[in-house]
Amino acid sequence: MLNGMDRELVTQGAEGRLYATEWLGHSVIVKHRFSKQYRHPDLDIYITNERMKAEARALTRCRSYGIKTPAVYDVDFNKSEIVLEKFTDSVTIRNFIYETVKNKLTMDSPVMLNMAERIGKLLVKMHSNNIIHGDLTTSNMLLVPPYDLSDIILIDFGLSSVDERAEDKAVDLYVLERAILSTHPNTEHFVAHLLATYENTGGESARDVIKRLNEVRLRGRKKLCFG
Ligand SMILES: Nc1ncnc2c1ncn2[C@@H]1O[C@H](COP(=O)(O)OP(=O)(O)OP(=O)(O)O)[C@@H](O)[C@H]1O
Ligand SMILES: [Mg+2]
Repeated sequence: MLNGMDRELVTQGAEGRLYATEWLGHSVIVKHRFSKQYRHPDLDIYITNERMKAEARALTRCRSYGIKTPAVYDVDFNKSEIVLEKFTDSVTIRNFIYETVKNKLTMDSPVMLNMAERIGKLLVKMHSNNIIHGDLTTSNMLLVPPYDLSDIILIDFGLSSVDERAEDKAVDLYVLERAILSTHPNTEHFVAHLLATYENTGGESARDVIKRLNEVRLRGRKKLCFG
């Protein structure tokens, strides 16, 4: 579907739209955030700009630590758009898991447990550099060919922050745990393997985060019980 200036709509979410297009000879993704009518206009601009800054900052920081993320080509606050490197033929880990399961591989197969390990190690690297993603899900992780062996690419950093506290890192893991368990059936072992890898490869600070995660889970459960 072509839209306006040769932009192909990729996704439309609650927060904005993503387009694929060409930019100075590069294949790019343009991520446009739209304004929310229910917000006061000044607050709306503020929030939109903060999300864009957080995203551009974290994407760039991650790259400098050797974590794969799209390159940031441009940030335009007037248009509320950020221009990112496009990974051609990428699939989200969410869809990779759906396809793999459709092909009769279980979540406990070596391919999937290897994936869990690689996610765990990647998050150790991100957290050891004090980057909190803020919205870890299997939709915010991409694979490129050959899918089962490619590096994992992290995207969607609009809710990210920089923080050294175990608490924030634990909440990051909790969000991912909830997301995986609710999106993908039979993933208890997969999640446990991911978290064990995190705990066993991240040293002292990772062990602190996992301790915290237990407390975050308890709080989460109480919240569910008592509103
Ligand atoms: N750089 C990229 N290259 C290829 N595909 C991408 C890229 N960035 C995003 N996508 C695709 O677009 C989808 C949505 O992107 P993203 O997660 O950044 O937006 P979103 O979830 O709408 O954002 P937000 O949560 O900030 O509103 C991804 O799941 C992925 O399929
Ligand atoms: Mg997303």
